Amino acid sequence: MNRRRRIYEGKAKILYEGPEPGTLIQHFKDDATAFNAEKHALIEGKGVLNNRISELIFAKLGEIGVPTHFVRRLNMREQLIREVEIIPIEVVVRNVAAGSLAKRLGLEEGSALPRSVIEFYYKDDKLGDPMVSEEHITAFGWAAPQEIDEMMQLALRINDFLVGLFLGIGIRLVDFKVEFGRLWENDLMRIVLADEISPDCCRLWDVNTNDKLDKDRFRQDLGGLLEAYQEVARRLGILNENRPMMGATPVLVSSNTPSGKPH
Ligand code: TMP
Repeated sequence: MNRRRRIYEGKAKILYEGPEPGTLIQHFKDDATAFNAEKHALIEGKGVLNNRISELIFAKLGEIGVPTHFVRRLNMREQLIREVEIIPIEVVVRNVAAGSLAKRLGLEEGSALPRSVIEFYYKDDKLGDPMVSEEHITAFGWAAPQEIDEMMQLALRINDFLVGLFLGIGIRLVDFKVEFGRLWENDLMRIVLADEISPDCCRLWDVNTNDKLDKDRFRQDLGGLLEAYQEVARRLGILNENRPMMGATPVLVSSNTPSGKPH
């Protein structure tokens, strides 16, 4: 029986009303989509892995002082989050040429960029999330100039931290996408990291083999998406390999964050 109020359903997640005002429950689905949902599949176990991987990354970012919406993981597929007003901008950080940048500028996939590059995309499925500039963002009032500065600073801190985290487990962080929200505390507003960080929204390449350990396996019909996400979870130390796998459903070890409850 499920009487929770559904606040929003996206392609890979559902947001439900939370237990207290100002909170929501973020539920990770098994749906994989690409090319603005032209391509769709159900990959059993993906939601469980993304919930756990995103929990670990948000908790670690919180520890280094990056403000996030994350409160705690509730169960295999859900986490408690603070309710924020999502800024309708996807912030992409790139370290290595790949995907749409490689195509747009005719760069060789895999070539290092002269420095990390930030791009903005306007979140609008009907328009296919078009790339926009700071001029568009301020002119149309999607975010204020100071908010853009704050998002860029946070995105670069997140990038520095994640590049190191992944390099330590033999993975190159090629690029990733993050979203931010406005969190109101009385009259004060803070920009916080929202949404998720998982192999759905990063490009992760094995340092030695260049194997793709991310959603490009689905976008490019390479197969083995679940195995790739499991490999990321295994290297991050959150996949329990001593317990038998039940079908395609991965078994995760319990959280090592104080608030994360085992299930
Ligand atoms: P792109 O090269 O296709 O523009 O993607 C850049 C990064 O953003 C890549 O890590 C994948 C991620 N991304 C999303 O998370 N959602 C999207 O809708 C798109 C297009 C990309």
